[in-house]
Amino acid sequence: TNDLENRAIAILKANDRGGYTVPTAGLYPYQWNWDSAFAALGFATFDRDRAWREIETLFDGQWEDGMVPHIIFRKNDPGYFPGPDIWGSRTEPPTSGHSQPPVVASVARWLVETGGREDERRAHEMFPKLMAWHEWWHCYRDPDETGLVGIVHPWESGRDNCPDWDIGMNNIVVPDDLGTYHRRDTDWVDPSERPTQETYDRYLTIVKFGRECGWDHDIVVREGPFFMADPCVQFVLMRADRDLMALAERFDDARARGRIADWVARDEAGAQAMWSDEACGFVATDLRTGSKSPAITNASMLAFYGGAGTEEQRAEMVRHAREILDGCRYVFPSWDPRHEGFEQRRYWRGPVWSVMNWMMAAGFERHGLADLAMRVRRDTLAMVRQSGFFEYFDPLTGEGLGGPNFTWTAAIHLALVS
Ligand code: DGY
Repeated sequence: TNDLENRAIAILKANDRGGYTVPTAGLYPYQWNWDSAFAALGFATFDRDRAWREIETLFDGQWEDGMVPHIIFRKNDPGYFPGPDIWGSRTEPPTSGHSQPPVVASVARWLVETGGREDERRAHEMFPKLMAWHEWWHCYRDPDETGLVGIVHPWESGRDNCPDWDIGMNNIVVPDDLGTYHRRDTDWVDPSERPTQETYDRYLTIVKFGRECGWDHDIVVREGPFFMADPCVQFVLMRADRDLMALAERFDDARARGRIADWVARDEAGAQAMWSDEACGFVATDLRTGSKSPAITNASMLAFYGGAGTEEQRAEMVRHAREILDGCRYVFPSWDPRHEGFEQRRYWRGPVWSVMNWMMAAGFERHGLADLAMRVRRDTLAMVRQSGFFEYFDPLTGEGLGGPNFTWTAAIHLALVS
């Protein structure tokens, strides 16, 4: 192993809080859902037991209805806002009130297929919990069984301030009694690399609504301030449903196979509902108004990872990919630079994220697009070499942005070089 690999391993170890890792010390002091899924990929390169622990501990926070929340608050840390009191989950351990892209089933399958009997045993043990979580998505987040799963907060997408959400966020009225609060994120990171204050007020408006109805999913979905479909959640779930199916086959579970087959059929119908003729691609869709986002994102590009679309649609997506690749020193940007709203340093409004690249490259490869996969992987490694293990990167300069010594950036680096 070389120097960078040793540093990546050291970051995972330093962010380890005993069975789970924090995304980065200071800025994110708890366990985050999809961060842990990717952390497991990194741990697997040097400690498979620890890789499993990382995703097993996530289910300590699983709700009775199957939801796996996006943050698990193991102990109160005043360095983060909004903490457990603001969420008011009434669970033990306390958690946030919504979920995050369900990557875990895909990671579990990957661990099984690259491992041995012990991996198989642990996946089997986790299987019913994964089934319950996927069931939750298909039931509570798609109550009309359209195939399109919705998200109730931009945080549920993991792509917090992407311009995709402006459509739904613009309709949110911030109540007079929201109260004053002290943001903590901008204590750690330059405000120009974080969501604006106006955006933050709206995030908290949604949290207030959820807390006040006791995070009743039916109410939040039907009456809450925000309900949109996210290409990231949709395509990640689509991939994860297929991976769960592979596990169900391995475990010879006929009942689960039948259930998952229904989901997989619906997933494609949902993907089709995200197709926009204007943008000529798969884009975020407001499930209240039907409005569609105007531009392609790194989440749109996960269509290949999910296995969505017709051949013609995929050809259009490849055309977008090549044009965006030509316009950026480092790919893949989180918002199409050809579009208004692109901000190269601001979080999900332009910067590049290693985890998205990792999934995207796997999808390209699966569809025989080896040159695209190679470019995405090469850039992912190059930005780290140039700038270190930052949370995200400027697509035009490769500068590292957001939090330093970031767990998932280190984990993806290890997964790519191993
Ligand atoms: C934050 O606090 O910015 C997180 O992204 C929420 O998950």
